[in-house]
Amino acid sequence: MPIPRLRPVLDDLPAYRPTDGVYGAAARVLPLSANESPDAPLPGVVEAIADAGATVHRYPDPGCTELTAAIACAYGVAPDRVAVGAGSVALLQTLFQAVAEPGAEVVYAWRSFELYPVLADLAAVRSVRVPLLAAGHDLAAMARAVTAATRLVVVCNPNNPTGTAVGTDELRAFLDRIPPTCLVAVDEAYVEYVRAPGAASALALCPAYPNLVVLRTFSKAYGLAGLRVGHLVGAPTVVERLRKACLAYAVSAVAQRAALAALGLAEQLRERVDATVAERGRVRAALLAGDWDVPDGQGNFLWLELGGAAERFGRWCAGEGIAVRTFPGEGVRTTIGSAADNDAFVEACARWRGPGPAATAMRAAASAGAPASDTTVTTTVVK
Ligand SMILES: Cc1ncc(COP(=O)(O)O)c(C=O)c1O
Repeated sequence: MPIPRLRPVLDDLPAYRPTDGVYGAAARVLPLSANESPDAPLPGVVEAIADAGATVHRYPDPGCTELTAAIACAYGVAPDRVAVGAGSVALLQTLFQAVAEPGAEVVYAWRSFELYPVLADLAAVRSVRVPLLAAGHDLAAMARAVTAATRLVVVCNPNNPTGTAVGTDELRAFLDRIPPTCLVAVDEAYVEYVRAPGAASALALCPAYPNLVVLRTFSKAYGLAGLRVGHLVGAPTVVERLRKACLAYAVSAVAQRAALAALGLAEQLRERVDATVAERGRVRAALLAGDWDVPDGQGNFLWLELGGAAERFGRWCAGEGIAVRTFPGEGVRTTIGSAADNDAFVEACARWRGPGPAATAMRAAASAGAPASDTTVTTTVVK
């Protein structure tokens, strides 16, 4: 029986699969899989949401005028440098679509945010993936991967899921090597959690590089994942065109009011972010003490590089009542959640008897004269 003809790319596109047990009435696991804030919205935000709820018989302001002005004011830039979208992922999608001329390529590091390849495929842009180094982005190799066909380079900073952060000087040197006709998007979804010396937001670089756009979100540090608000900052000529490519009315009035309220509560939110950063240090120290090899992640999550053991470990965590994000064959990412949920994760790690504590596995493999079998080697993938 013939079926309606849709784009063939949709035949094989992987559907986004949230970690089992997190959503719906049957939710039964500790939610450490989606890098959300563990804290409920602050009181002023809850009131703004309730107030805006009374207006939803009207369409929202399609230009997000007040929110745009407030974000611009917070960053000390003109409002024509700011675009607001329904989550930073919607703005990322707009970016991919905006560059999607026939033959266009996008360069990004791999492993990185799992939606980049999906957005590239959807936009029919060819993905050029540059393997990460142990220390993070290989910006020199990424610059070399840029060709006349490259329309967009995405730098996830800090990188999801591995947590490494690119330094500002390194980023500036990289931007100097990218042709001004090629957009560079720095995805700073987790920038508020960065404490590594030398790593800072790329926002300060925007005036010097008109091909740079910086993406931010209200989903993580601002605790509004459920409302879907993100924004980007860039040159007015770029922002003006990207705004046209965004769907009108995509950011609800509830989301706009809540984000405005959250911006006004920056001090309280900073305290929450500091608490998450402190928890990150505590969890990492506990894992290191248990001989796990955990990079000094700069987001609200930590990365366990488990190679071939990742799936087993992820399933085992689920059995322990903890949802983590599993990247089969590569590793597992755990969100820094509430202290109680983090404790449950650390205790589960202490009980795990399979391959995992990498320091242990490496030592065992070295003494047996064999390679550490559960460590994968990332290869260049050019689609
Ligand atoms: C690196 C990165 N960018 C963007 C996003 C999307 O965030 P938003 O909720 O604003 O769409 C995420 C969400 O997890 C992310 O990890």
